[in-house]
Amino acid sequence: MLVSAKDMLQKAYEGKYAVGQFNINNLEWTKAILLTAQENNSPVILGVSEGAAKYMCGYETIVGMVNGMMKELNITVPVALHLDHGSYQGALDAMAAGFSSIMFDGSHYAIEENIAKTTEMVKLTSEKGLSLEAEVGSIGGEEDGVVGKGEVADPAECKQIADLGVTMLAAGIGNIHGKYPENWAGLAFDALEAINASTGNTPLVLHGGTGIPEEMIKKAISLGVAKINVNTECQLAFQEATRKYIEAGKDLEGKGFDPRKLLNPGFEAIKATVKEKMELFGSINKA
Ligand code: G3H
Ligand code: ZN
Repeated sequence: MLVSAKDMLQKAYEGKYAVGQFNINNLEWTKAILLTAQENNSPVILGVSEGAAKYMCGYETIVGMVNGMMKELNITVPVALHLDHGSYQGALDAMAAGFSSIMFDGSHYAIEENIAKTTEMVKLTSEKGLSLEAEVGSIGGEEDGVVGKGEVADPAECKQIADLGVTMLAAGIGNIHGKYPENWAGLAFDALEAINASTGNTPLVLHGGTGIPEEMIKKAISLGVAKINVNTECQLAFQEATRKYIEAGKDLEGKGFDPRKLLNPGFEAIKATVKEKMELFGSINKA
């Protein structure tokens, strides 16, 4: 059964580890992430961007696929199905379809409007027992059409949003979606410390989890980050493994063209990436 992310994130915040949000794109992605979570006794969050939802034929298809898969694979670890960077309408649609967790990303609005819309979202999600993530400041780069300027969040604004009763807060701290550039300045730890101090016990979310050095991940967790989002890294791992398979001509040998064989190296590569992240985040055996 899908669960809200609230309990798993409070436990992570208190226990100084982080739960991974891994974005899904299709059946193989979903199966790889769920099996890895189960094999490692780790809680997990399946992230779905609005673009990926459209690709997978909509929220209802995703809810059906995830629920069916959890039942048939006997997944017993806590799993939240989370809308990633949701718009107001996307949040309503995902909630109606049965998502157990919602991100309403109001970071591109002026803070007053972000507060007003997030307030409505707190009401709607809490009525249904769902968890809610909000965003202040912005994440640099682009993910599925969501473009951010990379503004570092203001701790006072973070407090205003946290005080509304959101489950978790994504704050821009110099993090970027996609690959980090060579000249990246690193995470803004002074800002993170101030945000953690101003937001009470609200678990913080680190977006752009692809390619952040290990020491920075560990420091971020020590300063209140309890959820880390990873998307691009699974895509790169899938691409590299699939490329090797094809370049080695394996798709031309025997039944190597069968999609169940062709997609398998990429599937295994996603599993390995997810396991590596769960080890780094400290969520193994925390289910
Ligand atoms: O919302 C999803 C993420 O923030 C993932 O970022 O693609 O850089 O890993 P990433
Ligand atoms: Zn993100």
